[in-house]
Amino acid sequence: MKISILTLFPEMFVGPFDFSIVKKAKEKKLVSINLVKIRDFGKGRHKVVDDKPYGGGHGMILKVDVLERAINKTKDKNLSSDEQKVILLSPHGKTFNQKMALELTKLKHLILICGHYEGVDERVSNFIDGELSIGDFIVTGGEIPAMLVTDALVRLVKGVLKEGVTSAESFTNFLEYPQYTKPNTYKNLSVPSILLSGDHGKIKAWRNKISFSLTAKLRPDLVR
Ligand SMILES: C[S@@+](CC[C@H](N)C(=O)[O-])C[C@H]1O[C@@H](n2cnc3c(N)ncnc32)[C@H](O)[C@@H]1O
Repeated sequence: MKISILTLFPEMFVGPFDFSIVKKAKEKKLVSINLVKIRDFGKGRHKVVDDKPYGGGHGMILKVDVLERAINKTKDKNLSSDEQKVILLSPHGKTFNQKMALELTKLKHLILICGHYEGVDERVSNFIDGELSIGDFIVTGGEIPAMLVTDALVRLVKGVLKEGVTSAESFTNFLEYPQYTKPNTYKNLSVPSILLSGDHGKIKAWRNKISFSLTAKLRPDLVR
């Protein structure tokens, strides 16, 4: 899978994609991450990418023509609209979740657009397939949201993690069961004895049960 990220600040991505699972996925060529500098599509000698909002107001708005050029140049002309999607990171979008992450991994090419400043010209909506939000709060730019979305997707790409690792993780169905490691007693706090029994059938049943009851208690919206 290829993920292209359109950003004013490609330097911000140095680090988050150079460690751990994302790094390994890139090395194994299961995922490629393509950082596209929006500034390269700016106009004139100063490569202008933004301007003041019509009607007045604070800040600067990313220009529609600049973003359309960047999108068109980044799109893979050989892919169909089912294989490739353009998504704007935006507080107006649907809130990103695990289900959406799984759905997006079916694509061959995902193009993420990072807004910045006061946002993007509304007419950009004519050149994209959708918008995603990371929650009901405002961050400075789409870069951190793009990192979150990319990380969540990469671990779901086939072959990145061992078979079955993600199937019991929180949000695939319910919240994950509680986990413990050595020592088995710490300051009078003991690990549930079932986990020391060696009976894998019983352990599995216990984990399923507790996973459901924990979810019903902490996130009733997920068991409906
Ligand atoms: C400072 S924000 C602009 C906020 C905009 N003025 C508003 O009130 O809706 C700049 C950019 O950060 C990104 N952004 C901010 N909060 C986000 C969120 N919750 N989810 C996804 N992207 C977000 C978007 O790309 C946005 O264009």
